[in-house]
Amino acid sequence: MASWVVFASGTGTNFRALIEVLSPLGKRPLALVSDVPACSAVTYAKDNKIPVLLMNYQGITRMQAENKLLDQLERFGNVQLVVLAGFMRVLSPYFLNSFPGTIINIHPSLLPRHPGRNGLADSLGSQDEELGITIHYVDEGVDTGKIIVQESFVRDAQEPFDSLEAKIHAIEHRLYPQVVLGLLNRFDTSEALN
Ligand code: GAR
Repeated sequence: MASWVVFASGTGTNFRALIEVLSPLGKRPLALVSDVPACSAVTYAKDNKIPVLLMNYQGITRMQAENKLLDQLERFGNVQLVVLAGFMRVLSPYFLNSFPGTIINIHPSLLPRHPGRNGLADSLGSQDEELGITIHYVDEGVDTGKIIVQESFVRDAQEPFDSLEAKIHAIEHRLYPQVVLGLLNRFDTSEALN
């Protein structure tokens, strides 16, 4: 069975969507990784008996924080897929090299438009006629990695931001579990062939 971890920093609605769709299929992550101990994603993981690994960036360098996490992850065995779901830290090239080509992210805009941590607000505040989401591999840039899938919709100029935001999240919650499932199945298939 392919092994994966989820990283989240906040509300965790995408994390929740992943668990709700994939857990009944027997696909549960090894752990939730978070840099925010009090966030809702951590509470949801604990309530659902998913181990939580906390990253503490305080008073140490990013690489030290990442090294501590890598040590913890090693105890869980071979991680095949790292799923960023609202993780609001930039991972170093060193960390990315520990999981080459197997870290994915979800972003609430049609990349390459509106990268970065304010992607949703930037996207809503723009004059763009189409809005949407992107799921992509993570590379050393900020939201610049190879795109796996995007979904867009035509914006109604009269539609309020909260309604547009709800549409964007609904797309995220539907698409991300499907993408993760597809990747996990690919790992499982190649394992079966070996
Ligand atoms: C999601 O909309 C995700 O696309 C975004 O953070 C939100 C997390 O929501 N990610 C980024 O902006 C990454 N740059 P959630 O905690 O409810 O899943």
